[in-house]
Order: sequence, then C-alpha cells, then structure tokens
Amino acid sequence: MANTEVEFCGLNFKNPMVVASIEPTNSPDLIKQCFDAGAGGAIVKTLTDIEDMAQLTQNSKYSVMNAQGNIIHGKPARDFVFYSRSGYASTAYKDWIPYLKECQAYGAERDAHLIGSVGAKEISGWRDISRTIEDCGLPMVELNFGCPHPAMMPGVHGGSMIGQDPDMAAEVTRQVAEVVDIPIVVKLTPDQADPVAIAHAVKGAGAAAVTATNRYTGFAIDIDTATPQIGGPAGIGGTWTKPLSLRWVHRIHQEIGMPVAGSNGIFDHRDAIEFIMAGAGVVQIGSVLMIKGIKWLTKVIEGMERFMDEKGYHDVRAMHGIASARAAGDYSEQFARGRRYAAIDHGACKNPTCTVCIQMCFYEALSQADGKVDMHPESCIGCELCYDVCPFGAIAMAETTPAQHAAGYYDIPEGIFETDKFTTRRNNPESIDG
Ligand SMILES: Cc1cc2nc3c(=O)[nH]c(=O)nc-3n(C[C@H](O)[C@H](O)[C@H](O)COP(=O)(O)O)c2cc1C
Ligand code: SF4
Ligand code: SF4
Repeated sequence: MANTEVEFCGLNFKNPMVVASIEPTNSPDLIKQCFDAGAGGAIVKTLTDIEDMAQLTQNSKYSVMNAQGNIIHGKPARDFVFYSRSGYASTAYKDWIPYLKECQAYGAERDAHLIGSVGAKEISGWRDISRTIEDCGLPMVELNFGCPHPAMMPGVHGGSMIGQDPDMAAEVTRQVAEVVDIPIVVKLTPDQADPVAIAHAVKGAGAAAVTATNRYTGFAIDIDTATPQIGGPAGIGGTWTKPLSLRWVHRIHQEIGMPVAGSNGIFDHRDAIEFIMAGAGVVQIGSVLMIKGIKWLTKVIEGMERFMDEKGYHDVRAMHGIASARAAGDYSEQFARGRRYAAIDHGACKNPTCTVCIQMCFYEALSQADGKVDMHPESCIGCELCYDVCPFGAIAMAETTPAQHAAGYYDIPEGIFETDKFTTRRNNPESIDG
C-alpha cells in the first residue's frame, strides 16, 4: 500500500491530512474525535485573549448553500458554499493549558500532532500565547493572520488586518520567533492583492511555512426576502475557492520554495491531492467536516490511499508539486507548443439538430454546411472549446502532422485583420438554423 507519510517543517506526519483550526477543534473531545478519524494532525481553534472574538464564536451563524445560492436543507454536495461567521476559541487560552497537554498526548498515542493556533490582541499576547503552546509540548504553532472577522469587530485588530500588511505580519512573526523554538506557520489571507509578498516578509522574519489560505470575506443575499444571508458580510468558502487557493500554493512553492500547508477548498481526497500536486506539503481540511461530520475525514484519507495505489504513487513525495513543475512559467511558453485541431466524427455528430460547436467556435473554424458541420482547419487555433461543449462526444482534438503544418494549418490566415474577415461564419443565424 502507498506510503502516506510526509515530512513538514522537520515534523513527520503519518499522512498529510491536518484538521484546520475550526469548530471541530474547539474542544478537547472534538480534537480527540479528529485523531480517532485518522488525522495526521489537528490545529486547535485559534487561542485568544480577545474576549469579543471568543464571544463571536458563541454567536456563530452558518448558511450552507448550493451553487445557486439557495440554502441546502439536506445533503450537501461537493459544490457547496459555506457562508459563516464565527470567532476564535470560545474558551480563554489559559483554561486550555491542561487540555492542550492532554490532547497532545492523545494525538501522540495515535502518531498524530496537535498544533497550536494564535490570534491575539497585542504583540505581548501573540508572544504569550505562542509561548504557552510551546510550553504545553505542542510541536508547531500557526499564527492566524487570515481570519476575515476581526476586520468587522470594532476595537479589534487582528486576523486578515495583519495578513494584509507585510510590515506588521513580519513584525508579529519576528516577535513570536524570539520566544519560541518550534516551527512557526503563518496563515495567509486571500483578501488581498499579493499573498506571495506576505509569505516573503514572514519568511524573512522567521516563519518556517505558510498556510495558503484562510477564507474570503463575502456578502450573500436571499433575493426572495431581499435580505443578506445571516445578517451581513461573513467568511465564505467551498470547493469553488480551490483554484484560487491553488494559485497561491503554486506561486509560493515555485517562487519562494518555502513549505506550504494547503487550505481553502477541500471536499474530498481529489481536492487534497490537487493541493499536494500544486506544492502543498500538508493540507488542512475544515468546513467539509462541519457539514459532513468528522468521520468524513477517514473517507478522505482512504480515498487518497486508494488513488495513490491506483496511480502507482509510492509515496506522497512523488505527487508533491508535480503539477506546479509542469505549469507554464509565463504564457508566451504556449507559443512554442505544438498546436492541435478539432476533428469532427460525423458518425456521432447530431448536426443539423445540434449546432452547439458552431455557435461556440469564436475563431471561424466551424460553419454550417448542407446537413453537416463544415470544418476549416486553417482557421482552427486548437482552443478546445468545441471539444468541451459538444454534448455527444463527436469532437476529438488531433495532433498536427508535419504534412498538415506544411500545408498551412494554423498559419495566421491571410487578411485576418481586414474588415471583411468579420462576416463571421459561425454566427450567421441563417447558417445555423435547424
Ligand atoms: C466556521 C469556521 C470557523 C473557523 N475558525 C477558524 C479559526 O478559529 N482559526 C483559523 O485559523 N481559521 C479558522 N477558519 C478557517 C479554516 O481553518 C480554514 O482555513 C478554511 O475554512 C478553509 O478551509 P476549508 O475550505 O477546508 O474549510 C474557520 C473556518 C470556518 C468555516
Ligand atoms: S457540438 Fe458535437 S454534435 Fe453538436 S454539431 Fe458540433 S460536433 Fe456535432
Ligand atoms: S478547437 Fe477552437 S478554434 Fe478549433 S474548431 Fe474548436 S472551437 Fe474552433
């Protein structure tokens, strides 16, 4: 069976699935359930000295929506939208001390790690809470510079407000690095222009890794009642955010080379594997455990093992960053790649009843002939849009042969910028009627 062990910031994890700092880690009993479900690690819900942020958690509001923005009222699917507002750990950090030790020991017995998380009022708080975490024997601490909610709590400065300011993020990291020896992970906010710059700044200040990313701030509306869902702006996530998160994992992995914990957009093992292939050393799984239960984690871990066995990945390292390494560094690299062209299987094609591809080809390579799709390969740029939208699998993308190249396939058509070029074949309504 595939080996799921990973090394992250000098720590060995039995698998890369770490439960994010979130409600399923807001009590010792819940943390133990995460370890029982097989987590490689669990991050305690952010420990704090900010009373309002603890109180906010006691006033949490959740709205689970489908892709249309309607409340689900039932089983959530992978396109769920989780719109919610909560704060930090609802119990004061000092009261957590005996439980941190207990949960760390419980995790260690199951070959798993309990990781600390901090969100404090002032620099002294960031130092004290981080120090407490280390003193309790936890092997890693995450600084929560990503929470969307402090920005809407009057008098509170923290979370994404720090994560949007490279100087402040570096300063808090530096102060914490002065008082702890355990690796520091900085959790980034996506609510900003350049998380890579923040990753750079905190690395210079002593962070061993970053988490990319916490959630976005959103605003969702119930149009039937013309009111905001759950009263107004809140954190928002779901698998729809995954490609946005992966972008930052990819860039930080490629450009800075520091370890990244992937977060924001996981439903099942396939999403977790995407994060790993983008360059994440471990992944953090959060809101899906709130809508499907902590036991869902076991399925995600088993799914990853199955995938690795099926695909022949002997260990997680074999998947780590492989898609990132294959990604174009800049778009002009595409120019040097061989072009493909669309080939129509007229046996499978339902034209003239169907004209979808003709309508979707924006390069004038497809038109309506007498009862069949007419293909103009000299105009086909190989964009693959027709291939994606054909409902009957009647289009294949073919490689260009040298002979086709010599015959002028994919040369820029003569006179492409002349005005009469825009008597577009595909959009001539008469040509696609029927
Ligand atoms: C209800 C809720 C509470 C959260 N609380 C915290 C928190 O206390 N500290 C923190 O660092 N992140 C918190 N997060 C963010 C999660 O840890 C995680 O980064 C985010 O939900 C994205 O991962 P996901 O797509 O797997 O949910 C919270 C998220 C949700 C939905
Ligand atoms: S979309 Fe497919 S089935 Fe429809 S006309 Fe094009 S090739 Fe034929
Ligand atoms: S691959 Fe693109 S350019 Fe070529 S026929 Fe299809 S939609 Fe048109």
